[in-house]
Amino acid sequence: MQTYIVGGFVRDLLLSAEGSAARPNDRDWVVVGETPESMIRRGFKPVGEDFPVFLHPKTHEEYALARTERKTAPGYHGFVFHAAADVTLEEDLKRRDLTVNAIAMTESGDFIDPYGGMRDLKAHVLRHVSDAFAEDPVRILRLARFAARFPSFSVAPETMALMRQMVESGEADALVPERVLAELAKGLACPVPSRMLDVLEACGFWMRRYADIPLGSATRQALHRCILSGLPVSMRFAALTTELADERHVKAFLTSIRASADTVSFAETLKRIEVPLKRLASAEDAVEVFLKADALRRRDRMMLLLEYGSRVFPETLGSQAKQLQRRIEAALEAWCSVNAGAVAKTQTNPRDIASAVLNARCDAVRAAWQASEGS
Ligand code: CTP
Repeated sequence: MQTYIVGGFVRDLLLSAEGSAARPNDRDWVVVGETPESMIRRGFKPVGEDFPVFLHPKTHEEYALARTERKTAPGYHGFVFHAAADVTLEEDLKRRDLTVNAIAMTESGDFIDPYGGMRDLKAHVLRHVSDAFAEDPVRILRLARFAARFPSFSVAPETMALMRQMVESGEADALVPERVLAELAKGLACPVPSRMLDVLEACGFWMRRYADIPLGSATRQALHRCILSGLPVSMRFAALTTELADERHVKAFLTSIRASADTVSFAETLKRIEVPLKRLASAEDAVEVFLKADALRRRDRMMLLLEYGSRVFPETLGSQAKQLQRRIEAALEAWCSVNAGAVAKTQTNPRDIASAVLNARCDAVRAAWQASEGS
């Protein structure tokens, strides 16, 4: 059987040989000269309804029949696949996205590189293989996240021009939010996510889809600080909303891209408490933050919001950062540990209970704040 390793594994293997931190992951195989029937006869298990892909009977690695793709309609679904025994390796590689992803390796370790992928890997260039790039608009997002993953790589001018054309022609409009979200999340997990934003802005994709979401220096700084502190991707989505005016916009944007409920609620709450959180320097500020963030019921989220604040708005905490952090945590503990039942029992009029409990919490925060002074 004629089999070749292709795609990300080969790219990352060559990059790691160059000294890059890229680590080759799963191996994807391409099979030439076979048919679905002959694969099944060899014991391979067919998977996936759309693609002619099979699992190896022993290694369970993915083997795809060499194929060509032809676009029949706009969007992600309008593909017809031609997978037959006469499709050559070169034809299969030609319909792939980037030259660096279109290098094949034989089982004995020889490289087959008809489209200059090794040259582009050396020169650190992301370049499309052929016009077939334009048939799959998700490739704009893939390229953008590769730029975030491999920050030393530039985008070939002709590839940028092609992506601009794809955006202007409306081809990228057909991308469903879930696809965009998946790629954005992967890009935000990369070492330099702002490079993904650079590419999406440069080709017009961002303006066309998210014209009211500015990506200025404040957003980029917030993202950069998220990366430096290793904050999770859900918080990096919040950083994308740095320049939005209010929580309504934050919610509208993150909901429109189908971010998870936790991600939306984190970013929305962050926006709601941003002003008092940034100036947090007294027990009163702490109370305002806890009330607005519903800290009592959502204590874990409150802790995450405080962590985000301390990492992304460090100026506000200044040289006292550590001490202030301890005080805020002590205040939160005090806020949450007031025994509401016991306070309620001290009230004769039920209508006074809520305000009595609130006062007790404020007193507890004030006491904790003072107690931790100078600690
Ligand atoms: N591919 C493509 N167009 C796409 C998706 C994938 O041409 N829209 C091709 C590329 O050759 C790619 C290979 O399929 O290298 C495997 O795709 P995938 O596993 O999704 O990505 P990788 O390039 O392996 O990258 P990663 O390390 O992120 O998995």
